[in-house]
Amino acid sequence: MKATARAHTNIALVKYWGKRDAQLILPQTDSLSLTLDPFYTDTTVEFDPELTQDQLFIDEKAVPADKMGKVERVMDTIRDWKKQSIFARIHSTNHVPISAGLASSASAFAALAAAGAKASGLNLSRRDLSRLARRGSGSATRSIFGGLVEWHRGQDDQSSYAEPIMEKLDFGLEMIAILVDTSAKKVSSRGGMQLSVETSPFYPAWKEVVKHDMTSMKQAIASHDIPAIGHIAQENTLRMHALTLSADPGFTYFDGDTLRAIHLIDDLQAEGINCYYTMDAGPNVKVLYDRHDRKLILQRLGQVFDPARLVVATAGPGVYYL
Ligand code: DP6
Repeated sequence: MKATARAHTNIALVKYWGKRDAQLILPQTDSLSLTLDPFYTDTTVEFDPELTQDQLFIDEKAVPADKMGKVERVMDTIRDWKKQSIFARIHSTNHVPISAGLASSASAFAALAAAGAKASGLNLSRRDLSRLARRGSGSATRSIFGGLVEWHRGQDDQSSYAEPIMEKLDFGLEMIAILVDTSAKKVSSRGGMQLSVETSPFYPAWKEVVKHDMTSMKQAIASHDIPAIGHIAQENTLRMHALTLSADPGFTYFDGDTLRAIHLIDDLQAEGINCYYTMDAGPNVKVLYDRHDRKLILQRLGQVFDPARLVVATAGPGVYYL
């Protein structure tokens, strides 16, 4: 009746930006990500026949029932699959180096799915765990697995799941997060992607971009070609952010520091240093590079940004039980 799971967050190299089914969280496109080592969530789920509703505590703080919609979707799916109606107490703790906008729903819902399924007595494959995590948040689908992971758009609920491409990385791809801002985001990824799907005239082109990027990204991974991986990821992120600029009303997740980081990385690239940027639904910038260049890149980034706000992330593992 009780289980604890740890899941790590992930960063998309080919982004998921749009749903075609908001209830089941079926995406418009495939996507591809790297699971990260230093950022994770531990979640304990304990079913208790005495409870009349689920109770959620995040970092020891009780979450009001009206803020539990996404969690309820995962828990109700567990009850549905298990054919039982018992509620649970859920304790979730986020581990991020400094609280800086990297706490992700990806690790949270992957840990919830794994702990909840096990505590209920459901014995799910990792594929089905990823389908379950998907109900909480799209990016959580991929955090069930370690290393480089692909989420298949699929045809329906059954066929939209994640799968590892390379669970243990056998080459030196790494990431530095530049934590430029700590304030809460103004436009959620959920709202931002919906507005993009509904109003950006470029959305049909984005779907073609992703098809192409998935193929070339997988080729680049197979040949351990970090400059190609970085370049594709960088172009893909710019095209994703072009959807926000071209939405109605248009908006952006970038701020001044985001542009400062982009210019700095452009300069490093012009000097022949292989590093590339990617951004998600917030102003933080993540830099991709080969681990052999870590020292040099940290040093150069540290001349412009506070070194305490640079966090190195290597590839992390898939979900596991504690
Ligand atoms: C930019 O997974 O947070 O990070 O499915 O609505 O919960 P919901 O969205 P979420 O969106 C992630 C968007 C992204 C790109 C990505 O992770 O692929």
